Amino acid sequence: MQIGVLKERRAGENRVAASPDTVKKFTAAGCKVVVETGAGAGSQISDALYQEAGATIAPSAAAAAASDLVIKIQKPMTAGEGTDEIGYLKSGSILMCHLNALTSKDLVQALAKQGVTAFALELMPRISRAQAMDILSSQSNLAGYKAVVDAAATFGRAMPMMMTAAGTIAPARVLIFGAGVAGLQAIATAKRMGAVVYATDVRYATKEQVESLGGKFIVVDEEKMKAAQTAGGYAKEMDDDFKRKQAEAVHAEVLKSDIVITTALIPGKPAPKLVNAAMVAGMKAGSVIVDLAAEAGGNVEGTVADKATVTANGVTILGYTNMSARLGRDASNLFAKNILNFVMPMLKKGTGELEVKWDDELVKGTLVTKDGQVVLPALAG
Ligand code: NAI
Repeated sequence: MQIGVLKERRAGENRVAASPDTVKKFTAAGCKVVVETGAGAGSQISDALYQEAGATIAPSAAAAAASDLVIKIQKPMTAGEGTDEIGYLKSGSILMCHLNALTSKDLVQALAKQGVTAFALELMPRISRAQAMDILSSQSNLAGYKAVVDAAATFGRAMPMMMTAAGTIAPARVLIFGAGVAGLQAIATAKRMGAVVYATDVRYATKEQVESLGGKFIVVDEEKMKAAQTAGGYAKEMDDDFKRKQAEAVHAEVLKSDIVITTALIPGKPAPKLVNAAMVAGMKAGSVIVDLAAEAGGNVEGTVADKATVTANGVTILGYTNMSARLGRDASNLFAKNILNFVMPMLKKGTGELEVKWDDELVKGTLVTKDGQVVLPALAG
């Protein structure tokens, strides 16, 4: 089987879906890997490094895409977005990437029409066997870390308590909304930097996790929080009564915070608005908000996607939509490994041929198009 690795063309995307390590492993398993020239540039992976690992360098996207399996970070671009990447894909080929399938119906239709078998890696079921294939976890973890690092760099004061001969500096107060993968890493990072950390989530199960990292958990409505988790481990959308109680419970805490990091997401839905304009307007000058939900519309009123906004009262809101790409090398290595871990068990021993296990729950969970049809139940019909 030939695996094609495309260069990402979307603005701000530094990542690449293969690393020298995964190229080496695919090659050892009998696959041929073709990497588009410059694909690793944003992650400091040169063509030469890929070649040393056993890859062939293709001069163009079209040449790399003429493969049996095409791996990418982001969903392919359409002609309207600048480059018709879908047009490069062969009928009968397989595509694996972060497809954003649930919110990209037209793109999914176009892939089906092109005859591409597409896997949306963001839909990987959250079961223990799939943890090593979970792109959302690997990327969110880095995003949570980088959010705190960026906030600390923007914050004009120190994070830890410092007792010096010239006086004492109080520790920064950090509030995290959403204690999932990104939020927990943000808590851990802020604690390591010496901040006092508060956190809240709609899922009650996160209370213990927050506390085990040394954070203080803000409970809104214990009963409703105990019912807020889906079987897949994700949050449900909460009712208006809960939202009102939550706003009341966090309002005073937002005003006391130096740094607020929001990470709250509900799969396939716009991000819940958790920090309103009145809360932002009441924060101290010099405070920093990082809205990691910016791509899904943002958790904060006033977030502008991919911009740093300074409000009239001196609060900076950072709205990066692709935080993990700001750590391109690490993010690429982990994303590439997630794909390797998904594909490897389906390779025929010694030959490098792919035998997709159509009945496997990981395949069923992520398969979006096949044989010219949209097959993902949430999108089909
Ligand atoms: P996510 O990125 O979808 O959401 C981030 C966080 O925001 C979640 O904790 C969610 O509960 C929270 N949230 C949603 N609406 C909110 C609101 N209105 N107010 C406050 N918080 C809100 O979630 P993520 O980070 O992907 O993880 C979700 C769960 O899945 C976690 O329990 C995690 O441990 C679990 N997980 C399981 C895996 C596995 O078993 N393979 C792999 C990765 C995560």
